[in-house]
Amino acid sequence: MSVDITSVMGMNTSQPPYLASDPMGASALPNKHLLGIEGLNRPTITSLLDRANQFADLPAREQLSHLKGITVFTIFFENSTRTRVSFDLAARKMGASVVNVPVATSSIKKGESLIDTAVTLNAMHPDILVMRHHNSGASLLLSKYVNAAVINAGDGRHEHPTQALLDALTIRRRVGYIEGLNIAICGDIANSRVARSNIHLLSILGANIRVISPTTLVPTHITEMGVELYHDMEEGLQGTDIVMLLRLQQERMQGAETPSQREYFRRYGLTREKLSLANPKALIMHPGPMNRGVEISSELADDVERSLITAQVEMGVAIRMACLEALAFGLTKPDQRNMK
Ligand code: MLT
Repeated sequence: MSVDITSVMGMNTSQPPYLASDPMGASALPNKHLLGIEGLNRPTITSLLDRANQFADLPAREQLSHLKGITVFTIFFENSTRTRVSFDLAARKMGASVVNVPVATSSIKKGESLIDTAVTLNAMHPDILVMRHHNSGASLLLSKYVNAAVINAGDGRHEHPTQALLDALTIRRRVGYIEGLNIAICGDIANSRVARSNIHLLSILGANIRVISPTTLVPTHITEMGVELYHDMEEGLQGTDIVMLLRLQQERMQGAETPSQREYFRRYGLTREKLSLANPKALIMHPGPMNRGVEISSELADDVERSLITAQVEMGVAIRMACLEALAFGLTKPDQRNMK
C-alpha cells in the first residue's frame, strides 16, 4: 500500500464540512495519520487545541462514547510512562477498545522486522495504531504498510507531535495566548524529538523561540528553523516568558557530548538564580522524565507557582483524546458519530 507523502504530512488544508455545525466543535486532522507537526497548518493545530481544551474542562470521571467501536493498538518499542498511559486512558475515556501490544514478550523480540510486525497487527484490523520507536521515520514506514491511522508517539530524534500539542495547550490555558511569547528550549536539542516538534508548533503559533544548549548538543543548522541560538544560559534566559527544559538523552548519545552531570548542572541546570534572569513571572516546563539536579534543581521542580510540569501531564490526556477523535472521524462517517 502506498501513501501520498503530502497527505501524510498535512498538506491538504480543507476541513470536513460537518465541523461547522458540530455542537461539540470537534476538530479533525485533514490527513489520515499524525506523524509530525511539520506540515500541519495553524487552523488544524488551533482546532485540535480548541477541542482538547473542551476535553480538559470535563469532570475527571467523565466517560464518553465518541469512539465506541474503534480499536486502538499501542505499541511502544521504547520505555514510556506518561505517553503510553495517557494514550491508553484517553482512548478508554473516549469509549474505544484498547490493546497494548507488549513488545518485551512478543515476537518482535524473536527477530521479527517492523514491517512484518506491522502486517501482522494490520491483519487484526486496528483503526488506530499508536507507536513509539527508537528509529526516526519508523512511524512513516509503518503508515505505508497498515490500513490503520498511525499516531507517532515519538520516533527517534525526529518528532513527538502530541507532546508539542500538549505543551501548547498547557501554555494557552495558563498564559491565555502563545503568539509573541519568548520561549527558551534548553538542553539536549540534538537528541530531542520534543524540541523539534515544539520548534515547528510554537513557530506556527507565532512564539519567538530561542534554544540554549552546549555546542555538542545542538545541530549546527538549528538556526535554519528560525530560532535564536545561545550557548550561554544566563544570556539566553534574559527576557524569556517560558523556560522549557529537556532531559539529557544519554541513550541516544555517541559518547563525549557532555561533561559530568555536575558540570552540566552548573552551566545548564535551571536554578532559582538563573531563573531570576528571565521575566519576573517566567514559567518552567519539562516533558519528563526529569532528572533533578541535572537539568533542573529539585526546588524549582516542586515550585507550584512557576512549574507547569504536572499540568503538562494532565493536558496529555485531553490532547490525546482530541487527536484520537480527529483521526477516528477520518475513518468513520460523521453521521455514525455518537455524541455521548
Ligand atoms: C520523549 O519521548 O522524547 C520524552 O517525552 C522526553 C524524554 O524522553 O526525555
